[in-house]
This record gives sequence, structure tokens and C-alpha cells, in this order.
Amino acid sequence: MASALKLKKITLSDIRFLYELLSERESKIFISHKGMPTWEEHVKFVKSKPYSKWYIIIHEDKKIGTVSLTFENEVGIFIKKGIQGRGIGSCALKMLIEKNPNLRYLANINPKNKESIKFFKKNGFKLIQYTYEITNSNKK
Ligand SMILES: CC(C)(COP(=O)(O)OP(=O)(O)OC[C@H]1O[C@@H](n2cnc3c(N)ncnc32)[C@H](O)[C@@H]1OP(=O)(O)O)[C@@H](O)C(=O)NCCC(=O)NCCS
Repeated sequence: MASALKLKKITLSDIRFLYELLSERESKIFISHKGMPTWEEHVKFVKSKPYSKWYIIIHEDKKIGTVSLTFENEVGIFIKKGIQGRGIGSCALKMLIEKNPNLRYLANINPKNKESIKFFKKNGFKLIQYTYEITNSNKK
């Protein structure tokens, strides 16, 4: 399956698919405390061109996931539930790196997201830091 994958640049016609994909995420995947955005927040976010590179992963004309790079070369990758664990993520990550050759790539992962930690380690990423945070929820 993974051999027939394509990466297509995001367009406005992908907004709904991205929202559906987002709704599949469990809370452990979010690093920030924001959780699921509203539809309006989502549309605004996509239109703001938040990433340096952002692709839809396509298999046989079907959208099956998304992969992105921030302006700091942080990778984000999401494969539709039900087809995870079949090598698609690894293949899409390789394609992203081939299309965008850089010296260094980062992945910020929620420590509770064990599958993702395993995924990035398996794909050659090394742990370089633990980041701690304090929040003041009353402060706006
Ligand atoms: C993490 C994710 C991108 C991996 O993509 P994938 O297509 O499922 O992964 P692959 O099939 O290429 O797996 C490669 C390796 O990752 C690890 N892995 C992937 N899914 C795993 C799971 N559910 N449990 C444990 N390890 C897993 C394994 O080590 C696997 O190698 P193996 O099959 O030889 O054991 C995908 O599962 C996903 O979209 N998860 C939800 C979103 C997310 O957590 N994204 C990361 C935040 S940036």
C-alpha cells in the first residue's frame, strides 16, 4: 500500500477532511491544552498558512492522512484511524523529508503518546530534551 502513496499540497478543498481527521485525535495527541477547535477556528487556522509545508497523503485518489513541517522543521503527521500501523506513516515521513531536504527535523510529542514515540524512534529520531511547562489558567 505504502508504495503507491502521493503527497498533495493542501488546498482549501481539504479543510473538511482535515477537520474530520482532527476529530479522530485523542486528547493525548494534543500537546497544548486547547483540544478540538470549533469549525470556524479550524477554517481560520488552515487559511492562516500555519506551516512551511503541508500535504494531504493520498492513496488511490483517497485522502488518508496529512503530514506537515513547521517553519522550525517540526514534523506533524496524522494517519486516519483504521489504517494506522501499515507502514503509511513511515513512507509519508520519508517522502516529506525527500521533498524538503533539511539538515535537521524535530518532532514534539506528547509523552503520553507512546505509539508516536515508538514511531519516531523507529524512523531514526533521537530524544534530545524534555520540556516542562507551568500554566496559570486564570491568566488570560
Ligand atoms: C503515529 C503515526 C503517524 C504512525 O503512522 P503509522 O502509519 O501508523 O506507522 P507505521 O505503520 O509506519 O509504523 C512504524 C512504526 O511505528 C510504531 N508504531 C506505529 N503505530 C503503533 C502503534 N499503534 N502501537 C505501537 N507502535 C506503533 C511501530 O514501531 C512501527 O513499526 P513496526 O510496525 O515495525 O512495529 C499514526 O499512528 C498516527 O497518525 N497516529 C495518530 C496521530 C499522532 O499521534 N501523530 C503524531 C503526532 S505528530
